[in-house]
Amino acid sequence: MSNSEIGLIGLGTMGAMLALNIAEKGFPIAVFNRTTSRTSEFHAQAGDLADRVTPCETLEAFVAAIKPPRSIILMVPAGDAVDQQIDALRPLLDADDLIIDAGNANFHDTNRRARAASEAGHPYLGIGVSGGEEGARHGPSIMGGGPKEAWDRVSHILEAISAKYEDTPCATWMGEGGAGHFVKTVHNGIEYADMQMIAEVYGVMRDGLGMGAADCADVFKTWNKGPLQSYLIEISGAVAAATDPVTGNPMLDMILDRAGQKGTGRWTAIEAQHLAAPITAIDAAVAARNMSAQLDIRRKGETRFGAAPEALPESALTIDQLEQALIAGKVLCYAQGFELLNAASDSFGWTLPMPDIARVWREGCIIRSSMLNDMASALTDDAKRNLMFAPAFTDILKRTHGALRHAVATAAQSGLPLPALSAGLGYFDIMRTGRSTANMIQGQRDFFGAHSFERVDQDGAHHGPWGSHR
Ligand code: 6PG
Repeated sequence: MSNSEIGLIGLGTMGAMLALNIAEKGFPIAVFNRTTSRTSEFHAQAGDLADRVTPCETLEAFVAAIKPPRSIILMVPAGDAVDQQIDALRPLLDADDLIIDAGNANFHDTNRRARAASEAGHPYLGIGVSGGEEGARHGPSIMGGGPKEAWDRVSHILEAISAKYEDTPCATWMGEGGAGHFVKTVHNGIEYADMQMIAEVYGVMRDGLGMGAADCADVFKTWNKGPLQSYLIEISGAVAAATDPVTGNPMLDMILDRAGQKGTGRWTAIEAQHLAAPITAIDAAVAARNMSAQLDIRRKGETRFGAAPEALPESALTIDQLEQALIAGKVLCYAQGFELLNAASDSFGWTLPMPDIARVWREGCIIRSSMLNDMASALTDDAKRNLMFAPAFTDILKRTHGALRHAVATAAQSGLPLPALSAGLGYFDIMRTGRSTANMIQGQRDFFGAHSFERVDQDGAHHGPWGSHR
């Protein structure tokens, strides 16, 4: 009866794909879903893998089907459903049975659950799984968090099912408690910014250069052979190339410009604010997604203020310059993401393995790209360094920031919004300004609140001669 190596609860799209992946890699698996008809349907559709899948109608049968000490993956919607599932499951388990939450949990929840489990003497892991449906089925990127010994118990399974970058599994333990889910959250924040920047250059091509979707698709396909090679550029090309079966128009032209979100990008922005970590490009991308939802007010704005944008003057901006601008924007966005990870690592008492994070993102996940391999090398040399200052990326930025500036300025002149690229440029310019304008902020703070300031020529705290100016 107890012949399954592992169990999985939650046979939604991601859970079902992950279960098939696990079975395919040779691990007998017990599965359970709250709606029992889904469990039998899943088993019936498992094909050749059905022999390795034990479908269970009750939680008791599910627990009994797994070899002790048990390992059980939860793939239920993030939030209360995870707590409810843990509460239902725990009384049926032995003390050393391991629960693994593989959903997109908020890392604060994972910290809380991990603490509760540890106090009760139970092992608990929170793992971030990236790669969408395809990734879950054929090889996701996996970011683990929780007790290292618990990770070691199941790492052979997680590595076997993960994506491989030149034979190296994209599955790594990131640290205690919610470390894995935190890294996954930042992955998603970067995902938002990467997607937004691609959408912005698409907007320049469509509205500024008057290019149709098919031409944009060709550009993305070409870019995917160069330094921008990535899954997101690849799928942007595929999306732009598709034809709507209903109208025969480009599919992209028929998709409403209102983007959805489940909230992980927002979590990244919130955590960055708590940590005082500047992630301006990611913040801008999250805000842009929110503004995309304000369709009615945007339409009113177009009526009130006139339609922006105007087409760009001929040869004001070339495709090559746009590519360079996107390269610069991408480097800056990742530099911000890794800076946030560093800030979290210090603040939460983790030792996040920075180069390994870049390595684990090289395959399987949504932000996989060739640039991540260079980032892994740069972070191996110095894990704490802002990527802007790693020689390889300094060189790239020196070569490309002019194009980013030109793209942002040209687009602004024509009313084309590039919020994430502009935010990246603003970050770059601040990060290379030795004397900023914060002296004015300090003067203002001291003027209205006697907060004091430091002087450029003397140590200590000082006040200004404001009396006669009030
Ligand atoms: C991944 C994705 C995945 C999912 C997000 C998208 O890494 O596989 O990030 O987790 O696609 O839910 O998030 P939004 O719905 O917020 O765009």
